[in-house]
Amino acid sequence: MKVIFFLFVIVFVKIDARVFVGKCRKIPAPVVEHFEFKNYMGVWYEILWYDDEYETFDECLQFTYEDTSTCDSEKTFKTQLKLQSPTDNYEEQQKYYGVGKQFDGGKLGTGTIYPTAPNYFVLATDYCNYSFVWDCFNVNATHYNERMWYFDRQPNPSSIPRKVQSLISKHFDKRYVRKTYHGDKCRY
Ligand SMILES: *[C@@H]1O[C@H](CO)[C@@H](O)[C@H](O)[C@H]1NC(C)=O
Ligand SMILES: *[C@@H]1O[C@H](CO)[C@@H](O)[C@H](O)[C@H]1NC(C)=O
Repeated sequence: MKVIFFLFVIVFVKIDARVFVGKCRKIPAPVVEHFEFKNYMGVWYEILWYDDEYETFDECLQFTYEDTSTCDSEKTFKTQLKLQSPTDNYEEQQKYYGVGKQFDGGKLGTGTIYPTAPNYFVLATDYCNYSFVWDCFNVNATHYNERMWYFDRQPNPSSIPRKVQSLISKHFDKRYVRKTYHGDKCRY
C-alpha cells in the first residue's frame, strides 16, 4: 500500500486509508494563519501518522517540497516523496513526484495534478523543526477518512514537540497513531 501516496493521488485515498463510520468533524484546531510559505519548503520526514486499517509497507518517508512560484499571487510547489519498504528488505527506494499549492494561510493542497481544494491543513509548524498536518473527507454518506501527520526536519527527532503532543492528546485517538521507521536501513 502506498500510504502516504494519498498526499499525492487523491484517487488512492479512497482505497488506502483509515476509514471511520460517520461524517468528518470540523477541523480540530485552526490552521496556521500567517503561513510562511517559503520557510515551509525543503525536506520533511514523516514521524507519526494515522495508520491504515490493515498493515502498510511504507517506511523511511521523506518529502521534499520545492517552491515553483513565479510570482507572489500564487504559491506553488513541486513535491518529491521517497520511501522504502520492509517487504523488499528496504532494497529499493521508490520516488513519487507531485505538485502542490497554497490556498489560504496554512491550507495547502497536494496531488499529481494541481489540487482544486485544500487537502493538507497545517495546524502547527515552527518551520525549522516540526509540522502537524490534518485532513478529512467524507468517503460516502456513512464513512469518512481522517488523516494526520507529524513531520519533522530530522528523521529521528530526540523528542516529540510539545505542541504536537498536545494536539494529538487533545484531538486524536492514540490507538491509531503509528510511528514511521527511520532506522539504519533508510537511505535518504
Ligand atoms: C529547531 O531547529 C533549530 C534549527 O535547526 C535548532 O537549532 C533547534 O535546536 C531546534 N529546536 C528544537 C526544540 O528541536
Ligand atoms: C461507504 O464506504 C465504506 C468504506 O469504504 C464501505 O465499507 C461502505 O460499504 C460504503 N457505503 C456505501 C453505501 O457505499
